[in-house]
Amino acid sequence: MILKIENLNKSFGSLKVLENIEFKIKRGGKITFLGPSGCGKTTLLRIIAGLEKYSGKVKKSFKKIGYIFQEPRLIPWKTVYENLKFVGKDDRKIKEVLISLDLFQFKDYYPAKLSGGMNQRINLARALIVEPEILLLDEPFSSLDIHIKWKLINDINAQIKNRKITTILVTHDIKEAISLSDRILILSNRPAKIIKEFITNEINEFFLEKEVIKLWGDKYV
Ligand SMILES: Nc1ncnc2c1ncn2[C@@H]1O[C@H](COP(=O)(O)OP(=O)(O)OP(=O)(O)O)[C@@H](O)[C@H]1O
Ligand SMILES: [Mg+2]
Repeated sequence: MILKIENLNKSFGSLKVLENIEFKIKRGGKITFLGPSGCGKTTLLRIIAGLEKYSGKVKKSFKKIGYIFQEPRLIPWKTVYENLKFVGKDDRKIKEVLISLDLFQFKDYYPAKLSGGMNQRINLARALIVEPEILLLDEPFSSLDIHIKWKLINDINAQIKNRKITTILVTHDIKEAISLSDRILILSNRPAKIIKEFITNEINEFFLEKEVIKLWGDKYV
């Protein structure tokens, strides 16, 4: 197991956000937490990344982690290349990742000159430069238009397969969940609890949509 979580609880003051979260993930596994808005998804990823205090057990068997944040995190006054240089010192590695994502020609651009989709590809490049064993994806597609979104999903799938990276995606989007994972864990409304689990191969989008409507009620969008 690359990650094993037991009896994880988290509150912000009196606001309970995560309740008794328990799961494990094998090296190379692709898991999605499908949860309604505001339920605690980002908090769960932040705990896995070591950015947040918690109570319970989080057993990590990895050192290198890539994190694609929900909000853009590129440094605006640095070029694409400089943004990548900031996390990984090795020029050969930067070049390899840029080429593998068709970004090399944009290496001297500033983020503001590039589209939202391109910015997310650079975020992906930045996450891959550290050669992560595990990649955390926090709704990385929500601001992208549909065509760019599917291209990025295909690229991520190819990259995680080639590089044998374990991934954890959090989203409220059923199609994203199905296309990027081999297991889908459904979270309840806040405080987030794991209320159901599916093997992606055994279900389809329509079945999952019906389940989610039942489980989330009017929080389903
Ligand atoms: N640092 C914090 N201090 C206080 N409350 C917080 C903090 N971080 C998150 N929260 C609250 O915890 C709850 C869960 O937040 P979180 O961002 O984890 O949810 P989410 O599922 O990622 O939401 P979204 O769908 O909007 O991305 C929210 O009510 C949020 O306002
Ligand atoms: Mg969030």
